[in-house]
Amino acid sequence: MTPANPEGDGLLRYLDVLRERVWLIVGCTVLVLAVAVAYVEVASKTYTATAQLGVQAISGSDTVLAGIPGVLHQSGDPTQDVLSGAQFVTTPDVAAQVVKTLHLNVSPTTALGWVSASPIGQSDFVAVQAQTGSASLSERVANAFVAQTIAVTTAQMHQAILAQLPSMQAQLQGTPLADRYGSGAIGTSVQELEQYQHKNNPSLFAGATATLPTGPSSPNKKLTVIAGLIAGLVLGIGIAFAAHAFDPRLRRAEQLRDLLGVPVLARILQERRRRPQPLLPSEISITSQEGYRTLRTMLSVRRGNDSPVYLVTGSGPGEGKSTTAISLAWSLTHTGASVILIEADVRRPTFASIFDLQYLFGIDEVLKGEVPLASALAPVLLDDSGIRVLAARHSGFELSDKLSHGVAVKLLEDAKALADYVVIDSPPLTVVSDALPFAKLADEVIVVVRRGVTRLKALVELDDLLRQNGVRPSGIVVVGDSDSPGAGYYPGYANGKPAEAPARVPSKPRSGWPVREP
Ligand SMILES: Nc1ncnc2c1ncn2[C@@H]1O[C@H](COP(=O)(O)OP(=O)(O)OP(=O)(O)O)[C@@H](O)[C@H]1O
Ligand SMILES: [Mg+2]
Repeated sequence: MTPANPEGDGLLRYLDVLRERVWLIVGCTVLVLAVAVAYVEVASKTYTATAQLGVQAISGSDTVLAGIPGVLHQSGDPTQDVLSGAQFVTTPDVAAQVVKTLHLNVSPTTALGWVSASPIGQSDFVAVQAQTGSASLSERVANAFVAQTIAVTTAQMHQAILAQLPSMQAQLQGTPLADRYGSGAIGTSVQELEQYQHKNNPSLFAGATATLPTGPSSPNKKLTVIAGLIAGLVLGIGIAFAAHAFDPRLRRAEQLRDLLGVPVLARILQERRRRPQPLLPSEISITSQEGYRTLRTMLSVRRGNDSPVYLVTGSGPGEGKSTTAISLAWSLTHTGASVILIEADVRRPTFASIFDLQYLFGIDEVLKGEVPLASALAPVLLDDSGIRVLAARHSGFELSDKLSHGVAVKLLEDAKALADYVVIDSPPLTVVSDALPFAKLADEVIVVVRRGVTRLKALVELDDLLRQNGVRPSGIVVVGDSDSPGAGYYPGYANGKPAEAPARVPSKPRSGWPVREP
């Protein structure tokens, strides 16, 4: 049998995958968020301070300062002028002056590495940005770079004027008095240059000063936390889908419809009670008990013959096979029938312990032919219902060595002669196939699946194995349903749990019915 699509179709399927693994996603998100917050706390912090340098290039018609280094002349493109102004900031000379004036214990190259200068939009200003590990240092460095850019270029201008003046003054001496002054005349130029010797660079000026940064610019707390949140969510969702792809487990009973093509006979609630062993009928909710009654009804509707043999199996460990076998046997007794419960799962036998059996013989002695079945059956009283139990005495006992077809036929014939119903608790046949002879002889084979536990692949394997051996499963019992159709049937019972104690079976089974007291 090849299932069309065991996962179901549509977008809803993806939503279901997310819903089923919501805690994984939440866990991932919280984890990554915690890492992001921890990073923000421990990562070294950077503080950014920005000062402004104004650029006012000298008009091209003003020839007095032509060729004077450090002075910017209009290029015709204001953007280019501001860009040229920015280039005056990040020079080794300016950095050396900053180190000197701020008495920094670093090299000019290091100080230069802290600073960047770039035009602010279409304005006449250059943003001088300093990034250091200290808020006050960043503030002082940004302001110092602006001040020292003006100072250094002013010094360059003064030096150039000083070098130029003697020759111009000599030229002035040789010029007739009447021609010395006026627009563009040598005397006027000399006067202007002498004045510039006492002024700052006219093409640069200080803009807004840097203020003390109130917090670190990096790492950015808000951004990092948002990034952590998004990354955690994405990671969680990715892992959820990966987990789903690599380990597809049964999540919804509907998946079974396409997968096995056999009916769901009963749905059993996910019980809150926790114990490592199978749950007794007294330990499950009224709704689950009702689920097992439904199973009984479904099976008896399907078969009307006398002493049918029901075999309960599954595709993996811990799915609720033994719990189902016990509760099915228990519910069968309510019809007034006699029931024999056989423990054919000898890997991890549990019946002796949960039924508190003190007995001499078990299934191994019966299969070896050492004792008749009747002598090995232990009577157990669950409430007022008696069942007879053939338990496995030793774990690890090799059932396959003893259980030939003939032996199985004999055991079941004997059992049918002694009871109205025979219920067999079988191991998962894909894992331990030694109970297969029982499966071939059983009238009904019930497959127990458990939401979140049963692997779909294992289920397909079990189905293949059964069909290869000519066994068609009768149906499925879904254990671990969060919402059973029976829930709420009884007024006053929330989620299948009784509001007040109803008539229930005692919590401990009484073995010794009718005679076998320990
Ligand atoms: N309806 C249920 N809700 C919650 N837990 C359950 C339910 N049924 C069984 N369990 C628990 O699941 C575990 C396995 O149950 P059980 O022993 O019946 O399964 P199993 O398939 O027989 O296991 P194994 O493969 O070991 O024989 C036990 O701890 C049991 O208490
Ligand atoms: Mg079991």
